[in-house]
Amino acid sequence: MNVSAQQRQRLIRLARAAMKHAYAPYSRFRVGAAVLLSDGRVFSGCNVENASYGLTICAERNAIFCAVANSSKKPEIVAAAVVNHRGVPCSPCGACRQVLAEFGPSAVVWYPGAGGLTQRTMQELLVDGFALCPNEPDATA
Ligand code: THU
Repeated sequence: MNVSAQQRQRLIRLARAAMKHAYAPYSRFRVGAAVLLSDGRVFSGCNVENASYGLTICAERNAIFCAVANSSKKPEIVAAAVVNHRGVPCSPCGACRQVLAEFGPSAVVWYPGAGGLTQRTMQELLVDGFALCPNEPDATA
């Protein structure tokens, strides 16, 4: 699906707004993300850290979970944007790619890369991601 430059700017603007709410006292690295759904709605999220470091949740997953919590059927992500307050390269982590692929296998993603704003498809960002195969006999074993 083609996402307009206007929609891209909207995503980046909302990701930046969410980034300002990041709770990142440990890393001091503030991240914001926004996802555009096929129905036109946009949901955003920020990273939320915890004193027990492993409980930290990334901005991308917070945005996606917010979309799920506000949708009566499975949301379809068509695009996502990620920003950070330092403007340094920061692509979605592996866990977030897996979760993005669940709801947006064909989504386009913008994030700050080494050469500035970078655009990638989910197919480029996650090769051979995990999928459950419910029809295989031992899938539930
Ligand atoms: N972080 C994100 O929010 N998204 C990513 O894709 C990578 C990392 C956050 C987690 C943590 O709060 C901080 O950035 C430093 O790792």
